[in-house]
Order: sequence, then structure tokens, then C-alpha cells
Amino acid sequence: MRLPERQLAVLEAASATDERTIDEIADDAGLKPETATGAAFDLRDGGLLAVTETTGTVAEPTGEGRDYVTDGLPETRLYRAAVDAGADGKPIAMGDVIGGAALEGPEVDIALANFPRKEFGTIDGGEVAVDPDAEPDADPEAAALDALVDGDTSEEVDDGTDGDVDDAVLDRLASRGLVDLAERTTRTVRLTDAGVDALMEGVEAAETVDRLTPELLASGEWRDVEFAEYNVEADAPAVGGGRKHVLRRTADRVKDVLVGMGFQEMEGPHADGDFWINDCLFMPQDHPARTHWDRFALDVPPIDGIPATLIRRVESAHRDGWGEHGDGYHSPWSETFAREVALRGHTTSLSMRYLSGYAGAELDPPQRYFSVEKVYRNDTLDPTHLLEFFQIEGWVMAEDLSVRDLMGTFKQFYRQFGITDIRFKPHYNPYTEPSFELFGKHPETGEEIEIGNSGIFREEVTGPLGVDCDVMAWGLALERLAMLITGAADIRDLHGTLADIEFLRNAEVSH
Ligand code: PHE
Repeated sequence: MRLPERQLAVLEAASATDERTIDEIADDAGLKPETATGAAFDLRDGGLLAVTETTGTVAEPTGEGRDYVTDGLPETRLYRAAVDAGADGKPIAMGDVIGGAALEGPEVDIALANFPRKEFGTIDGGEVAVDPDAEPDADPEAAALDALVDGDTSEEVDDGTDGDVDDAVLDRLASRGLVDLAERTTRTVRLTDAGVDALMEGVEAAETVDRLTPELLASGEWRDVEFAEYNVEADAPAVGGGRKHVLRRTADRVKDVLVGMGFQEMEGPHADGDFWINDCLFMPQDHPARTHWDRFALDVPPIDGIPATLIRRVESAHRDGWGEHGDGYHSPWSETFAREVALRGHTTSLSMRYLSGYAGAELDPPQRYFSVEKVYRNDTLDPTHLLEFFQIEGWVMAEDLSVRDLMGTFKQFYRQFGITDIRFKPHYNPYTEPSFELFGKHPETGEEIEIGNSGIFREEVTGPLGVDCDVMAWGLALERLAMLITGAADIRDLHGTLADIEFLRNAEVSH
């Protein structure tokens, strides 16, 4: 029998009596593991080798875990320092013990959290007392960590072949960041009877060629050589190439969808005059959202270049109202405040700039404009709030628009992301009437999350801008859309320092 060299090497390295791992085989045969895997599958297809696959959890100690193997776990160091200080007799002030334990930075907190958990003793009122029955030498976490670092335990823990590291202990070590757990498929091989027979009868190595070169083509040699076959099932090393961030990919798709729906893109300043951010929107100057609690005011010179006539019209809407039945706020209105500059809390400032005609937009109806841009709010960080996030702003200008047009637009928009179950809730905005909020259901948690706010601009908004037909408008949250389509349950998984790099590597922009 003739076999390609690499297959012959694997066949010779395999045993008829023992399961051998691909890594062992690759070592013996002098092949890369992925080459040995490919050859093993070819031999299996030829009936000469049996390949068994097991999936297990592999635990790999982290740098911090390795440090503790050398220095001792922080809680154990605290225990020993406490014993040295005499805390096995009576409680000793923490300050007298910490020094002896040589704990640095976060290690103090780590020690304080784990010491009582492991029942090494108690920490009460700044004093530490040691439990005389504690046995830090028999600590399963320390033992498991030692064993993993020494490599004297099989790292597979979930395949039933190895009982010496307990799952709960490993989970604890993983949650402490001392080991990384990863799923891994291990392949083992064994010679079949046919494989043994073949070896006994003698196998010759056939030289194979794994790539077609210009030389082979020019010489015509390609006609006679034996080509190695590709094996698409073989494990290959993971290549972590560059990739567009999931949020940027979502933003790009949103832009594509809106352009496809006939919208043009708006652009404008992140730091803008309050006039564009709030006053044009008929937001009273004493509205709570306009205080320093909510907005990021900038200490820069006031904005100029706002047309004087527009300022007068907006002021008049605020003071006296707009239209036949209009009634303003009858409250003070200050042009100085209107000219102050802040980071925009919504991109509706862009809609105002465009609808006013001063941004050069086309304004004969019907018109559609959008932006996917960053906004800034002094919110409290939580799973659904960031201090800066992206808003999908948009407006449609046409004669006789109704809430049904708005709903239809959203249905059409979200459907293109596979979201068909959005819900609407009546809402209040000082600048739209009627108004409603949009909700979507999170695919993983099942929770209903707010994904946007919308409405039809009031006459007090469109009138001063000089617009005399209907304008429906909205601000949708890009991050929330990304949560719905990627399944991320916490907005901070998507971006910021806590974002999970594995998630970012693998997340798809569809769900
Ligand atoms: N500016 C609103 C927000 O940030 C969104 C919105 C825009 C609502 C336009 C109605 C009309 O929540």
C-alpha cells in the first residue's frame, strides 16, 4: 500500500492498544497538530484508523493564578500572618496583621472577601480572629491551582476521565479570575485491524504536493505528482483578525436601511447652542432637563450666527404661543441662555438645524432626513444606560401625516432587522403631539426595553422654523437595537472598558 508521507507518519505513531491524542501523535510524527488531524481523518476515511472526539472543559491558570501558586492565595497569607500575630488566641487589630501578610493593592480586598468565606476565621470591627480548626493546607482551591500549574493533572475536567478537580472548585477559580475555562475538543486515535494489517504488510510513502507552484506548471511536472487532499474538518489555529465593531456594523446597517427607505443624512455639531438643542423644540427654559444635572454644559463662548428673525420667532412662541389657539409659557426667556453651548443630549438639534432651512436641506415636501450620531446625557450607568450613546434620529415632512404613518415607518424599519414585535406606548414630549415611545422585547431576557421616542412636531416647533406642513420625527437608540439583534443583555458588553472581547469577536449583527 502507498500512502502520503504524513498519513504514514500518523499511522506509524498510532497504537492498536492505546488511545493516543492527536498532540502526542503530532509530536512523534514531527507534524503540526492540524496536519496530523487532517491525516488522521484521511486514514479514518480509509478505514485504517479510528478517531474518537471528546469535548471537555479545559482550565488554564491565568497570570494572577500562577502568581498565587508562588506567593500563596491572599486569604492564606492573611491567615498565616494572623496566626503569627497571635490571632489564634484573641482577635488582633487588622492593621497589625495586614503588614505581615505582604498584601498589595487589590489583594487586601481579595483576602478580606475570601478569608471568612473559607471559614479561616472572622473579621469584625476591624479585628481579625483565626478559627483554630481551619485548615488552609487542605484548601481545595489552592490544591487545584497548584495541580493545574504543575500540570500533574489532566486538564480535562468534564469528560468523565478525570475526577481530581471538582467542577465547583474550578467554577470558583474561574469567577475569581484565577483560571480561564474554555471548551475544547480532544481527538484520540487508535489503529483499526485494517490499519494493523496494512502496517504488517508494509506501507510505502508516496510524496505528495500540497500546493501548485509556477515551477510545477512550467515544468509540466504537475501532471505526475500526487496532490494532498484538503481536509476541511481539521482543526486549524484560530486567527484573530481585525473586525469592525459590532456597534459600527449596526450603525452601517441602519444607514443602509434608511437610505434604502429614501432618507438623506444630516450632519452637525456635537457641541451646540441650547437654542438648537432645546429652544427650537419648545422646551421651556426652566425645564428640569435643561439644568446642570442632566446636561453637559461647556465653558466656551456663546454660539453666534443664529439668524435674528429665527431667534425672535422662537422667543415669541415661548412667550406668547404660536398659531390661533397658541398659548406660550409666559415665563422668562433669555437669549443669553439660548446661546450657551452644551454637548447635545439628543440629535433633534440636527433636525432643527435642517428644518430651519439654514443647513441647506431641501424643504419642499415630501422630504426624509436621518442621522446616526452620538449624544451625551448625564445619566447613571446601568445595564441599559450609558453617558454617551448613539441616536438614530429621523424625520419625515409631508402633508397630512398621522400616527399610523409613524407606526408603519417603524414597522418597516425594524422588520429589516428581524424585529417584528415592537410595541407603542403614549408619551409626552414638550415638542411633539401626539407622542409615543417604542418598546422591543429582548431575545434573551424576554424583558421589554425602551428603544425609542417619537411623535409629530407641534405647531410651536414647526411654525417658528417656517415649516407649514406636518413633520413626524423620532430618536431611536442604536445600542438598544444592537442589544436586540446581538442578544447582549447589558449595554456595557457592547462597548466601554467592560466589553467582553470574545463577544465582540463573535457577535453577529442579526439574531
Ligand atoms: N429627542 C427625543 C429623545 O431624545 C426623540 C424624539 C425626536 C422624539 C423627535 C420625538 C421627535 O428622546
